Parts: sequence; structure tokens; C-alpha cells
Amino acid sequence: MINYTLAINMAMTIDGKVERPDGKWYGLTSKNDKAKMDYYRSQHEVLILGKNSIINDNPVIHLRYTTGNEPLPLILIRKGTLSPKLNVFQNTRIKPLIITTEERFEEISNDLKDFATIKVLGKNNISPVDVVQYLGSLGYTKYLLEGGPSLNSIFFENNLVTTIYLTIVPYLIGEKKLSGIISGNTALPNFEMKSWKLESIEQIQDEIFLKYGKEI
Ligand SMILES: NC(=O)c1ccc[n+]([C@@H]2O[C@H](COP(=O)([O-])OP(=O)(O)OC[C@H]3O[C@@H](n4cnc5c(N)ncnc54)[C@H](OP(=O)(O)O)[C@@H]3O)[C@@H](O)[C@H]2O)c1
Repeated sequence: MINYTLAINMAMTIDGKVERPDGKWYGLTSKNDKAKMDYYRSQHEVLILGKNSIINDNPVIHLRYTTGNEPLPLILIRKGTLSPKLNVFQNTRIKPLIITTEERFEEISNDLKDFATIKVLGKNNISPVDVVQYLGSLGYTKYLLEGGPSLNSIFFENNLVTTIYLTIVPYLIGEKKLSGIISGNTALPNFEMKSWKLESIEQIQDEIFLKYGKEI
């Protein structure tokens, strides 16, 4: 495996939720958090995005609150497709890369070949290990994952995450079915043997910005 760093960046309420009751995430982070998010983006070469997050939140992914390097947007699609009208295709400075499966290639190509570069990795599933290896083969070594809890899960389950950026936002939601930063079906293997190292902590007004790291 190549030398790389893979960070996730999530904002979480005091009660550990990363989505609102409508399944989206908006309105609960400040400009300070958005500026941090842009700073983290500018420090990475590839921005890996979750398909559901793109559909639900239609995020603007180019830098707005800082200047610097724009990372390559990467979207993993195993099922279905995405609308070319989404911000990730229309409101970007770098043409996104889509990684999809043999089974999905034809439809994704028909819909999105003018808006993204399309790469096939796997027959009907995408292995996150293959994704990291493929990005390494292109010469990239610094990845930022902005997935939702599902995509985060598969990268954690494969032990690929090296850094966690976590913003605690000053709200309580309380609905028990709402997800935290990971939503796997089972506990991470040997989770109690793998504690994370708190590398930095910063308070700005009522938000706390945490950085955890891990040796891999
Ligand atoms: N608070 C925050 O900081 C924050 C950040 C990001 C998102 N969110 C919230 O999280 C919500 C969505 O999270 P989510 O967990 O449902 O979705 P997600 O992580 O954004 O996207 C998950 C999708 O990735 C696709 N995928 C591609 N390859 C995969 C693979 N090998 N294994 C698993 N999935 C793969 C799957 O789509 P297919 O199988 O259909 O292709 C899967 O449904 C958003 O609506 C947003 O509100 C919050």
C-alpha cells in the first residue's frame, strides 16, 4: 500500500448527530466551520464525496472561504446515477472523477460523460482499498473524505482513515434513529484496542474543532 493520508471531516451536534430529521445537513454550522472546511479541502488533493450527501445536500465544492489548491472531486457510484444539474458538476472548477462498476458504466457514461471523467473499478461493488490504490497510482497521496456516515463506515471498516476532523456544533436534536459519524451494521473490529490520538482542539465561539490522528 502506498503512503497516504485519508481524513474525514464531519460536523456533529452535542448529542452526536450528523444529519437532521429530514436526512439532510444544513443550517447548523457557522461561517467559521465552513472556512475550516475549505481550509481542509485546500490541504488535500482529492475530495471524496458521498453519493447520498450529493443528492440530499447538493453541496458547492469549490473553495469559497479561502484560496488555495482545489482538490479533485471524486464520487463513488455503485447504483443508480446522478443528475448533471447538481452543483458538483455545474459549480466546480475541476472536472470531477467518478468511480463506478462495470455494471453501471454504460448508464453513467450516457448521463455524465460530458461532466466527469469516468473510471471502472470492480464488477458490481467498489472496494475502498482499490480506490486508495487507484488514487495512489495517479500520484495522489492526500485524500479528504466528505461522505456521510455510510461512506465513512466502509473506509473505517477497511482501516483506511488516518485523521478525523470533527466539529461539535452547539445544538441538540435528540431523535434516536439519526446517525453519528459512522453507521456500519456492526461494531468496528477491535474498536477498544484502537484509540485515536487527540492532536488539536480549538474553540471558536460555541463550536469546538477537534483533530484526531492515528498511526497506520
Ligand atoms: N454533518 C456532516 O458533517 C455531514 C457530512 C456529510 C454528510 N452528512 C449527512 O449525511 C447524509 C447522507 O449520508 P449517507 O451515509 O446516507 O450517504 P453518503 O455516505 O453520502 O453516500 C453513501 C453512498 O455512497 C455510495 N457508495 C459507493 N460505493 C460504495 C461502497 N463501496 N460502499 C458503500 N457505499 C458506496 C452508495 O451509493 P450507491 O450504492 O447507491 O451507489 C451509498 O449509498 C447527508 O444527507 C448529509 O445530510 C452530514
